[in-house]
Amino acid sequence: MISLSVNGTAHSVDADPDTPLLYVLRGELGLNGAKFGCGLGQCGACTVLVDDRPAFSCLVPVAALAGRKVRTLEGLGTPDRPGVLAAAFEAEQAAQCGYCIAGVIMRAQALLERNTRPTEGELRAHLAANLCRCGTHMRILRAVRRAAIAMGGGVRESAR
Ligand code: FES
Repeated sequence: MISLSVNGTAHSVDADPDTPLLYVLRGELGLNGAKFGCGLGQCGACTVLVDDRPAFSCLVPVAALAGRKVRTLEGLGTPDRPGVLAAAFEAEQAAQCGYCIAGVIMRAQALLERNTRPTEGELRAHLAANLCRCGTHMRILRAVRRAAIAMGGGVRESAR
């Protein structure tokens, strides 16, 4: 049995230690926010937070998570009571197919928890690891800017 904390709840799972966290979240814990895209750490669809930092859950073996804090999209809110970022993404209609969005939101959450006043350059560099094949990047950026304002900050222009 492997113990891990997800969204503040302790779980024990009967899994091979090398099982990717993504498989445990989706297959064992029923948390389907994080998505399987590439399985290679190249797309970001599976992004969750581990100790408040973005991580590709397709690459993290579940055995590496003892004593660490995992957070997923489900930990940020519900459809009825969405978190700040989810509400901003909805307001900006930032999803097309939506497959990448949970991962994008988790990566943006990590940034805004650390700094609600990033520059535009910092925002773009931070989100670069998460791909959107529909090409809604400009709407995604608008949504994160909106969320930053809602959190009491705002995205600043980068120095030229
Ligand atoms: Fe993990 Fe693509 S599924 S980075």
